[in-house]
Amino acid sequence: MTEKRIDGKAVAQELRRAMAAAVTDLKAKHGLVPGLAVVLVGDHAPSEIYVRNKQKSAKEVGLNSYEYNLPASTSQKDLLKLIADLNVDKDVHGILVQLPLPNQIDPMAVLSAIDPAKDVDGFHVTNAGRLAVGLPAMIPCTPKGCLYLLKDHLKLPLAGMRALVIGRSNIVGKPMAALLLAEGCTVTVAHSKTKDLPAECAQADIIVAAVGRAEFVKGEWIKPGAVVIDVGINRVDDAAAAKGYRVVGDVDFNSAYEKASAITPVPGGVGPMTIACLLSNTIKAACVITGVPRPAV
Ligand code: GUN
Repeated sequence: MTEKRIDGKAVAQELRRAMAAAVTDLKAKHGLVPGLAVVLVGDHAPSEIYVRNKQKSAKEVGLNSYEYNLPASTSQKDLLKLIADLNVDKDVHGILVQLPLPNQIDPMAVLSAIDPAKDVDGFHVTNAGRLAVGLPAMIPCTPKGCLYLLKDHLKLPLAGMRALVIGRSNIVGKPMAALLLAEGCTVTVAHSKTKDLPAECAQADIIVAAVGRAEFVKGEWIKPGAVVIDVGINRVDDAAAAKGYRVVGDVDFNSAYEKASAITPVPGGVGPMTIACLLSNTIKAACVITGVPRPAV
């Protein structure tokens, strides 16, 4: 095992470096430049920041990034028309529609309209179903990044370990549970109706917290030596901070740090890994769609 504070930023940077080299190679050998279309509807402030970071990283590793910033009043019909166009666009290999969407748009209708081969978020039911039954699939970026930290970075012997996933969203909790299960973990999924969360935490060798509640998981709940992966990104008011707020995770970092053998910080833990995995999924999609051998990134 490496450092106690898991430096997701550094791990992601290393991945991006390897991906940049792979993209240069794809261009030189096959004339292939993977293209990612990022669609943002409305002006949800955190989404604007996430999308900007995704586009910036895509360009940095040499991908083509196509940006669609649509007004909050966009109709579902117009968004579906854009997706239909992107589905047949030969330069676009990955399509990402940032969530949440404005109320007049049904997210499931939109996600289901994306060609599963271009579904770099892994949210289409085809990809979710393939993951659930153990077939090759496009894996959602955040759980993919968390698994990378646990398996490839920390090199944990996952088979037989007890993993607790806190949160049951389609974006993180459910795919995270499926991935850990596939690795042979004994997986528990906790959520808002779970009766005794501290007791569940006390059993867990690995905790993945994705509840969306600031500093919700306390150090005293955590089994000594557990590995803690914090997916949360929450803003809390802080008059002393330059922007008037601080960004914290779903885990109370300081108390958890005392108990854990390894823990991701927020920011600088899971967030950069999510973006790295989006780029990796885009490279994978481009290779699968064009029939080019896939680099090992
Ligand atoms: N909103 C929050 N996380 C995500 C994500 O991973 N993908 C998309 N498309 N929207 C999100």
